[in-house]
Amino acid sequence: MVRENTLTKNDLIQPIFVEEETKERSPIGSLPGVFRESESSLASRVKDIQQAGINTIILFGVSHHKDAQGTDSLKMNGLFSRMIQKAKNAAPDIQVIADICLCEYTDHGHCGPLAHDGAPDNDKTLSIIAEQAIIAARSGADILAPSGMMDGMIGALRHSLDTSGYADIPLLSYAVKYASSHYGPFREAAGCSLGHDGNQVTMQSDRKAYQMDPANAREALREAALDLQEGADMLMVKPGLPYLDIIKAVKDEFQMPTFAYHVSGEYAMLKAAAEKGWLDYEATIMEQMMCFKRAGSDGIITYSAMDVAQLLDK
Ligand code: PBG
Ligand code: ZN
Repeated sequence: MVRENTLTKNDLIQPIFVEEETKERSPIGSLPGVFRESESSLASRVKDIQQAGINTIILFGVSHHKDAQGTDSLKMNGLFSRMIQKAKNAAPDIQVIADICLCEYTDHGHCGPLAHDGAPDNDKTLSIIAEQAIIAARSGADILAPSGMMDGMIGALRHSLDTSGYADIPLLSYAVKYASSHYGPFREAAGCSLGHDGNQVTMQSDRKAYQMDPANAREALREAALDLQEGADMLMVKPGLPYLDIIKAVKDEFQMPTFAYHVSGEYAMLKAAAEKGWLDYEATIMEQMMCFKRAGSDGIITYSAMDVAQLLDK
């Protein structure tokens, strides 16, 4: 009766990895219980997620057609578009979030084409993701979530969508994304570790040129304020649990729909401890989800979404 917060299935967003040119889904070593779906297993996975009562998914492509610019994601017959279409066709009522970024489709693994300093060229990236956003919308995505932390990305996408007949598609900005060590398993899962650079520019070996310094909190508010000025409809903070103070600060300051990304490393830590018998997975994940709600999260992207939905039924 006096409990201040509640967790429901409507708070959960299930991420799905989709690999092209494979026959069957395959397990991801560093994310026990998570799979790379094949294009043929995707439909039944999406239906299972919907059956479990989860209304929202976010898709990540595992591309076999990478280049310096990530151009495969600009084709209506490329993986990026196909996986959105297939998920939507499998369950038209499910909300599909498209991750708007190039790192899953670039051979060097950075979030945009490289400039001379070996980091993404901010403005070139903007013009490519502006095109990618249209492809996502045409493919049936309900929400676009740009994750590359480029300056001006929300403004560029909003303009691109509004002038192409997609004024009603909302933007969920990864407004506050830290250059975190907690993304390791994701990069293995999505095959987007920083790799080699065919153009012989010296490539930067981390994403600190565009992602945020974990030491900074006030900067998070400036990042969120800029994105809101540019037209963001919803804000995301990433990673999750080590950054609950940031979620609370962003929610308190802006009172906007605020999302948390319980990232791959957070899931992997919990799973590894549970496998050793050191932590109770079910009790701990439910506690963690409630902590996100208490901090002010409206929704949570988590690899545990299906497990949490089942635990809520118990
Ligand atoms: C890429 C992207 C990343 C994640 C989501 N989108 C990786 C990165 O920034 O390196 C990480 C998610 C996770 O670790 O679960 N734009
Ligand atoms: Zn990226």
